[in-house]
Amino acid sequence: MQVLHQLPKIEDKNLIVGNESADDAAVYRLSDDIAVVSTLDFFPPMVDDPYDFGVITAANALSDIYAMGAKPLFATAMVCFPKGLDLDILATIMKGSIDKLKEAGIVIAGGHSIEDKEIKYGLSITGKVAPDKVIKNSSAKAGDILILTKPIGIGVITSAIKSGKLKEEPPLVFAAMRELNRAASGAMVEIGVNACTDVTGFGLLGHASEMAEGAELTVRIYSKDVRIFEDADKFVMKKKNRPRAIESNKVFLGDRVSFSEDVEDAMRMLLFDPQTSGGLLIAVAKEKAERLLSLMATKGVSGFTVGEVVDRREFVVEVF
Ligand code: CO
Ligand code: CO
Ligand code: CO
Repeated sequence: MQVLHQLPKIEDKNLIVGNESADDAAVYRLSDDIAVVSTLDFFPPMVDDPYDFGVITAANALSDIYAMGAKPLFATAMVCFPKGLDLDILATIMKGSIDKLKEAGIVIAGGHSIEDKEIKYGLSITGKVAPDKVIKNSSAKAGDILILTKPIGIGVITSAIKSGKLKEEPPLVFAAMRELNRAASGAMVEIGVNACTDVTGFGLLGHASEMAEGAELTVRIYSKDVRIFEDADKFVMKKKNRPRAIESNKVFLGDRVSFSEDVEDAMRMLLFDPQTSGGLLIAVAKEKAERLLSLMATKGVSGFTVGEVVDRREFVVEVF
């Protein structure tokens, strides 16, 4: 978050991960062998069905815990709900997230609600990790291979549904949004990786750039290897289907990214597409990459290579 940089610098020796590196969650050391991990996410509904909204919000919030290589412990809920709106809608949203949290082995332990003009719902998740096992987004190494665990295009597809362009919800996109990043996280913890973040609102390039900046390296994305959800490339060409964040993410990255000429327009936009409950972007040593991919496959995670990490060049992110 931009504003955080204007605030006084936090100094606390037990804060292993604070806000300087734009990581997924805060990590605070309690003792030599245990640290608490904390994260918060909330949004207005990105899908029509209240139950799905609850499920996806939970999967998305848990993802920040999994991206740190941590285990979730419990959740608290944050609710903004309009006066006079049927409370069954809220109950259904919460049912969806309770069911998803249950799959992750945790419960909602509390929360807070206020009246607001539009629905907003979110979860704070508290988790735990051994202090020396934290997987930061800022510790990639030159030579690492980049692996992504879900295709991109979720923002465009959900926008196309909202704009009425897409009549039916594509099952694969919804399955991906509902899917926990737990198995992917378990695989990377088992193999041992250098860095990880989950791909959410800033799009693949935004989150890849944070990884590169944090490590003072350059990230190369091979766009032909980046998997996209079916028809996302078709929908993104129509302005009506484009989430506004595609443009703002692009502006934010500005001249820190370079594209080689043959990268197609649709792909240039999709690489900035904001994801909800997107996949994990993992930087892993080259010699471990194959093992990580095959372990993921045995766990039902369809990870694929999207690029590599190299010494710092002129651009923070290079797209080929
Ligand atoms: Co995140
Ligand atoms: Co988050
Ligand atoms: Co992380």
